[in-house]
Parts: sequence; C-alpha cells; structure tokens
Amino acid sequence: MDILVVGGGGREHAICWALAKSPRVGTIYCAPGNAGIAQVAELVPIQVGEFGRLAAFAREKQLDLVVIGPDDPLVEGIVDAIEEAAPGIPVFGPRKNAALIEGSKTFMKDLLHKYEIPTASYQKFADYAAALEYLHSQQAPIVIKADGLAAGKGVTVAFTQEEAEEALKAIMVDKVFGESGSQVVIEEFLEGQEMSILAFVDGETVRPMAAAQDHKQLYDSDRGPNTGGMGTYSPLPHISNEIIDEAIETIIKPTAKAMVAEGRPFRGVLFAGLMVTPEGKPKTIEFNARFGDPETQVVLPRLKSDLLEIFLAAVEGRLGDVEIEWSEEAAVCVILASGGYPASYPKGLPIQGLEQAETAHSLVFHAGTARGEQGEWLTNGGRVLGVVGVGAHIAEARERAYEAAGKITFDGKHNRTDIAAKALV
Ligand code: AMP
Ligand code: GLY
Repeated sequence: MDILVVGGGGREHAICWALAKSPRVGTIYCAPGNAGIAQVAELVPIQVGEFGRLAAFAREKQLDLVVIGPDDPLVEGIVDAIEEAAPGIPVFGPRKNAALIEGSKTFMKDLLHKYEIPTASYQKFADYAAALEYLHSQQAPIVIKADGLAAGKGVTVAFTQEEAEEALKAIMVDKVFGESGSQVVIEEFLEGQEMSILAFVDGETVRPMAAAQDHKQLYDSDRGPNTGGMGTYSPLPHISNEIIDEAIETIIKPTAKAMVAEGRPFRGVLFAGLMVTPEGKPKTIEFNARFGDPETQVVLPRLKSDLLEIFLAAVEGRLGDVEIEWSEEAAVCVILASGGYPASYPKGLPIQGLEQAETAHSLVFHAGTARGEQGEWLTNGGRVLGVVGVGAHIAEARERAYEAAGKITFDGKHNRTDIAAKALV
C-alpha cells in the first residue's frame, strides 16, 4: 500500500517511521517532510496548505491512504478538500466540522459544558469591555485564551491581574493573533499534574493510546516562555491507571459521543490535554484534533501493533475490532532546539554526532534539519531533533535519551535537563 503523510516535523517522522515497520506498506511519501524523514519516506515538495496539489498527487499515485499530521490544515478543511477532489482515497484525520474542537476554544468549551464533561469553568467574550469588566470581578491566577489557533501561543496563565489584563488587550485590542482573537475564553485556573491522552477515534469508538506528559516551557523547572514542547515521556508512573481510566471514561468517550450527537463525528486522533487536580480528578484543558508533537515521538515507539492496520481500521469504520497493544517499556524524548527558539534563531548550522546517537535503545526523530551540499546535516528549524531513549522503566529510558542527546552537537544547542524528572520520585 502506498501512503502519503502530510507534514514535516518530528511527529511526522515518528509516524513515517512507525508506518515503515508495517509489512503491507509499499511506498511512504511525505509532503513536504524534512531531511531526516527522507531516510524513511520519499519527500514530495508540496506544502501542507496546498490542498489541491496534495489531492492531485494522491490521485496521480492512486494512493491507498493519506494521513494528516498538523493542526492548521485540518482546521482549514484539508480532509474535506482531498475527499472531494480525490474521491475514494481514504484520509485519516477529522473533517473540518470535527477539527473545530481544536480550532475554536469557545466551541470546545460550549460542547463540554452542554454534555457535562469535566473542564475548568469559563466565560466567553466577543466584546473587550465586557471581558475586562468580568476580569475585574475575578481573582488571579486566571487563564486567558484566544479562541482560534495561535501556534500554541494563545494561552496566558496569568498570576496577577495586570498580566491578565495585558493578555486580554493583546488578544482583543492589539489583535496579535489576528482573527483567532476575535473571541476569548476566560477560564478558571486548574492546579495539578498535566497529562496528555491521545486516542484513535472513529465516531463513538475510542481506542486510547498510552498516556504521555509534555514539558512546554523552555527551561528546567518549567520556567521561561512556552514552546511547542521541549520533551515528553510515557508511561506516567506517578499517575494511577484508575485516574487514566477515569479520564477516558468521563472525558474522551463522552466527547467522541457528543461530537456524533452534534453531527460532527470525529475520525482521527483525538488528543485530550488534561489536568489531574490535587483531589485526583481529571479535567479537560484542551482538545487537539491530531497527534501531539512531541507526544507522538514517545507514544509510537511503545506501539506493538501495526499502525497502518489501525489507520485502515479507523477509515473503514472498524476501529473496535483492530488489535492495539502497547509495550511495557518506557520512552523519553528530549528535544534539541536552536539557540534563540522560540523567538528567532539561526539556520544552517552543522550538526555532528547523529549517527553515533542512534543505537538499539535510542531513536532520533528530525523536526528541523536539512542536508548541505556535501550531504552534511544542518539545522533548519527551532526544534531541530527529538532524541528518544527506550528502556525497561522511565529511569533507564531517560538515561539513554540523555546519553544519546549528549552525542549530538551544534552551535547554540539547547535542551532541558529535567525531562521526565517528575516521574522518577
Ligand atoms: P493550551 O494551549 O490550551 O494547551 O494551554 C497551554 C498551557 O497552558 C497548558 O498546557 C497548561 O499548562 C496551561 N493551561 C491552560 N489552561 C489552563 C487552566 N485552566 N489552568 C491551568 N493551566 C492551564
Ligand atoms: N505537544 C503539544 C501539542 O502537540 O499540542
């Protein structure tokens, strides 16, 4: 079977890598991919926003499956566009009306409220004066969220009134996120442990993946600016299976059911960002309509079953019958970022040590790399590489991830040194 994976980051590298293990896979194409992905897939020079060209490619190659990685094209309707222009070619990913669960925080909050699914209490506003007045009636800490996609930067956890007001003004008056900020959600601050649960979903059928935890801040001890994610690990030994099961039963399954009831059946990966409160109750922070990055880099190495078979089962509506098994092993991913990320950073710096970093117990997923004229590896993004260690437990996986990460060098390389440290106690 020939497959196209749309996207070009570490998540897509992990998806292509996992698909390549399937005995039924023929050619894997990746559009646009990156230099590292070229080791496991044939790169196609089409950008993720070029729906017409992607559909034409799928038709021309008579593909058996298209898999969508990133959020922006999903929210903009890439699945509908390919289904229409390349009829009969199955696409793994939610249609536009279902991707709205990630594309609009007001939609997501109203849905959860209507179906009584646990989440932080909230108010939504389209009017700045009303939002400001409400804010004055509340106490910090409080959370301010732009309604639409904002490259992961639309959320401010404000610890003072001033911070909250600044965030509100930036979104609604200065319009720093453009139209994404025409509405805001002002939300109760939730304390606790964060976890990510991703699930394969086809309508009401929910098949959860192994739980993971991300580290969003740039620096150790969760300090510094928010990033796309600086590292992940799975499983979560400090969060009990009862709590994880409760999250699946009280949040993810009811949400999939609610989407069906609303006439927006979700097919793809539904990703719940959750907070486990100090009382041990899981509550929803957000929903994403896709695999997480870098959650995928620790979840897929633990998948023992055939990813292609799972994708096919989902698009054929038989997800309930497919085998999905997870290994007992642990995985830890450490992101190596360019100096300056998440603000501006240089590109084109030589990377050394990649070959030495890959061992029987470690994997290197490329997020932003390129090849130079002599075939040498160069940095080409903010997040450059995701180095994954696999081991019998978190401590071993973590040691292997950091050992491998230490072998890779480039000017300005930055990584956190405390990924998965919370899980060691
Ligand atoms: P989001 O973009 O919705 O994932 O939010 C980014 C980050 O902000 C989350 O990963 C949380 O760490 C934090 N956050 C969002 N909403 C809340 C909330 N209600 N309470 C506490 N932290 C939150
Ligand atoms: N790692 C968080 C995300 O993919 O949204």
